[in-house]
Amino acid sequence: MAAKRGIGSAPVHGRRVLVRVDFNVPQGPNGEVADDRRIVEALPTLNHLRAAGARAILLSHLGRPGGHRDPRFSLRPVAHRLSALLGQPVPVADDIVGMKALELAARLENGQFLLLENLRFHPGEEANDPAFAAQLAHLGELFIEDAFGTVHRAHASTVGIPKRLPSFAGLLVEREVRELSRLLERPERPYAALVGGAKVADKLPLLRSFFGRVDTLLIGGALAFPFLAARGGSLGVSPVDPALAGDVTEFFREAKESAVEVVLPTDLVVTRAGHEEPEVYPVDGLPPDASAFDIGPATRARFLERLAPSRTVFWNGPLGRAEDPRFRAGTRDVLSGLASVPGYHVAAGGDSARILNDLGVAGAFRFVSTGGGAALEFVQGLELPGLAVLPDA
Ligand code: 3PG
Repeated sequence: MAAKRGIGSAPVHGRRVLVRVDFNVPQGPNGEVADDRRIVEALPTLNHLRAAGARAILLSHLGRPGGHRDPRFSLRPVAHRLSALLGQPVPVADDIVGMKALELAARLENGQFLLLENLRFHPGEEANDPAFAAQLAHLGELFIEDAFGTVHRAHASTVGIPKRLPSFAGLLVEREVRELSRLLERPERPYAALVGGAKVADKLPLLRSFFGRVDTLLIGGALAFPFLAARGGSLGVSPVDPALAGDVTEFFREAKESAVEVVLPTDLVVTRAGHEEPEVYPVDGLPPDASAFDIGPATRARFLERLAPSRTVFWNGPLGRAEDPRFRAGTRDVLSGLASVPGYHVAAGGDSARILNDLGVAGAFRFVSTGGGAALEFVQGLELPGLAVLPDA
């Protein structure tokens, strides 16, 4: 994708600058910030604005409160964490738009920040309501898009504001676009995609988008079950949705046509009623009462053997139930093995960063996207409304 006009050319000194950030962070039981990665990743842009003497008004959503004020999704804990990271107070404007928000924005001095309360407390945000977008735009003079995780949403803050104000990509968005574009534009070959997870229907478009683009497609996790079943595997009581049979047949036909090698598990780690310890069985011989939760040791070795010659690797999704110590070896061993494979390795989507950190294998990746759905849509080559609306560099 063409680079977007970046923050470096934005005349921000002394100006009120609206900054869309993605502070949609995991929360603890009392709403506290459980993982501040997305806040930390916004710091380069925020430090740039502070050093340049901007008056920054930060906009974000948190969770899905559905257009109503819901204290569980307040951004106050985020402001608290951000204040600590920046070493200066970041006040919160409870009113997202209206007189009070205007007053607080007008009072900002150069180098100061204001965070508006959760945009999704207002129904106009997700509806991309023109009146709401105009009110938001009225708070600032320029717009910086730095919420890469949200650029796949056509909301008031991601599309409505940049249609009304001179707009620029922030440093995080610039980096995400630069790194993820490497997967779409002339990736070094061989190129392998390793995809796990559970929701087959959700992941099928991603898997199919790799036809014609990658050399090898490795599939793990529960995602592999319908493909294994179609190839005659007996998966015990592991869930296989029969409604997907047609899609799976079509998938194998397209894979053959585009000469993509599809690599599936050959053995699985299972549990059975009455058996305390997990056991390993080949995919064509699971006992009828077995439930599979991880790829087995032969599959781990096979996956690593297929990944070894790759010079570009994309990974999304765990290869088993990695949150359970009994079923994390598959994901951990394959990803940590990647560390000794030279080349460009990218992780993207959903919980990728958390899984990498939990398993201690983040070092195997050159780039870990902050995007969930946005990153997966980007690597499929889809148009993302929050990027399409920004002027090219
Ligand atoms: C994300 O976490 O993927 C983004 O913040 C977007 O959130 P949403 O899926 O609720 O729109």
